[in-house]
Amino acid sequence: MTKRYGEHLALEGLDLTVGAGEVFCLLGANGAGKTTTLNLFLGFIEPTAGEARVAGQDVRQDVARARGLIAYVPELVMLYPRLSGRENLDYFNTLAGRPALSRQESTAWLTQAGLAPGAMDRPVGGYSKGMRQKVGIAIALAKGARALLLDEPTSGLDPLASNELSETLRRLSGEGMAVLMATHDLFRAKESGTRVGIMKAGHLVETRSTQELGHAELEQLYLTHMRG
Ligand SMILES: Nc1ncnc2c1ncn2[C@@H]1O[C@H](COP(=O)(O)OP(=O)(O)O)[C@@H](O)[C@H]1O
Ligand SMILES: [Mg+2]
Repeated sequence: MTKRYGEHLALEGLDLTVGAGEVFCLLGANGAGKTTTLNLFLGFIEPTAGEARVAGQDVRQDVARARGLIAYVPELVMLYPRLSGRENLDYFNTLAGRPALSRQESTAWLTQAGLAPGAMDRPVGGYSKGMRQKVGIAIALAKGARALLLDEPTSGLDPLASNELSETLRRLSGEGMAVLMATHDLFRAKESGTRVGIMKAGHLVETRSTQELGHAELEQLYLTHMRG
């Protein structure tokens, strides 16, 4: 995929496949093209050349289908503060035209997303950022999403919340979810990712498996690309 804004190349010749069971972490400085990549898969923007495919089909051919299969967890998940996590899940699920969830079902989705049982019926207004993210993930799971796209999900999370998110993403990928996330967090990328990709000025300049890479090595690799 290539994405051009006038004379400016936001993304050039990106060739990236994220399979079921993978957690692919996009790294790179601000402006490298990470969000552009996510937006292309979500059909929020269209590529200048090439195509974004979700489950094999060009997103442009059927944006609604693509958005049904993927879930986007933004940096700040927008929820109704007076409603509880469970009520927010119920509301967004109904809004998506799906059958109402039983209490057992909503508990199951929220639990899978990592929310503690004691928090489920408390108003979201008192939730931390990490807890809101969990409700966002539960909404994604309830709609049957096969892929999760996250944009800088760990920015502003405390280490415990970051760790919980890593664990949740690992677990979901183990159940066949495809995960693509943009992040500045090298440590978390190594912890939760199966692969990392380093982007620089619209190009994916390096792709590595996290298994073959230590924390210090990943940092060195990143810095080498940023300085080079
Ligand atoms: N709507 C837009 N119009 C013009 N340029 C844009 C637009 N959106 C993004 N860009 C440019 O595309 C490049 C990639 O941006 P982005 O994907 O947001 O980077 P990242 O998420 O890696 O920080 C940047 O140079 C940015 O200024
Ligand atoms: Mg971005």
